[in-house]
Amino acid sequence: MEFQAKRSFLHRCTRSGDVVHAGLVITLLIGVWYAQALEVNTGKVHSIEVMNGSSVLLPCTYASCIGIQNLYFNWQFKDNGTLVKLCEAIIPAEGIEPNVKIYHERVEFVGSSKQNNISIVLHNVTFEDQGDYICFARNPKEKERNHSAVFTLFVVDELKEVDNTLTIIIVSVLGGVIGLIILIMVVKAVVLAVLNKAQEKNKECLVTSSGNDNTENGLRGSKADSKPKPKA
Ligand SMILES: *[C@@H]1O[C@H](CO)[C@@H](O)[C@H](O)[C@H]1NC(C)=O
Ligand SMILES: *[C@@H]1O[C@H](CO)[C@@H](O)[C@H](O)[C@H]1NC(C)=O
Ligand SMILES: *[C@@H]1O[C@H](CO)[C@@H](O)[C@H](O)[C@H]1NC(C)=O
Ligand SMILES: *[C@@H]1O[C@H](CO)[C@@H](O)[C@H](O)[C@H]1NC(C)=O
Ligand SMILES: *[C@@H]1O[C@H](CO)[C@@H](O)[C@H](O)[C@H]1NC(C)=O
Repeated sequence: MEFQAKRSFLHRCTRSGDVVHAGLVITLLIGVWYAQALEVNTGKVHSIEVMNGSSVLLPCTYASCIGIQNLYFNWQFKDNGTLVKLCEAIIPAEGIEPNVKIYHERVEFVGSSKQNNISIVLHNVTFEDQGDYICFARNPKEKERNHSAVFTLFVVDELKEVDNTLTIIIVSVLGGVIGLIILIMVVKAVVLAVLNKAQEKNKECLVTSSGNDNTENGLRGSKADSKPKPKA
């Protein structure tokens, strides 16, 4: 419960701040591009929700307009405030695959220098894996400046999702049935009212027509006048 509230809070924050963030990120990126030349990026999506037990790609790419040389990078997990190093490597030059040292048994390096890709995959995700993953890079060509990007992982329970869909189905079916009953009742009431009115009108018609007959007989109307004409 607490975790879900926190999650939706985080989502809301990122959503409401998106416009401001976009402007800020563009400004920063342009700044980074000119001043520092290296950029690390976790992509357009900065967080992902996965089910426990599954494998998840933690994406990260780098870009550098002045080129790289002995680019150092690592992935860190922010575990309750302390940073835990998951893997690290040095890319000697552009296009040369790094020899990645991995410090976590469920982490696999899936990147490639040919695509400036330093992504990792985390296998068999557990609830403890939830949190911030930091992709860090440093290009010695740029006076050892540090660059990093954060990717947030949310872990959800498969069963809760199934329960949610089940309750949603039940609620919508119940709502639909209740709505249908109400609709039928309303339609029935309207039809009955219309029928009643029609019947009343019919009665009125009968009464008025007989009344008309009476008046016709009693009074000399135009009809009464015209009637005798063909006779005559
Ligand atoms: C996910 O977690 C739930 C609750 O702890 C557990 O019952 C379920 O087996 C887990 N699923 C996987 C695929 O590990
Ligand atoms: C997180 O750290 C705080 C103190 O820094 C500690 O009290 C708490 O028990 C820690 N929680 C976990 C899950 O390790
Ligand atoms: C993930 O879990 C499966 C089944 O428990 C196991 O066979 C596999 O080796 C695990 N993979 C990793 C990378 O730990
Ligand atoms: C990085 O490489 C992984 C594994 O090949 C791939 O799934 C992912 O899409 C790549 N990311 C980018 C931005 O190219
Ligand atoms: C970059 O990060 C390292 C730690 O990884 C730190 O020692 C160094 O001072 C940082 N450099 C700058 C310029 O912030």
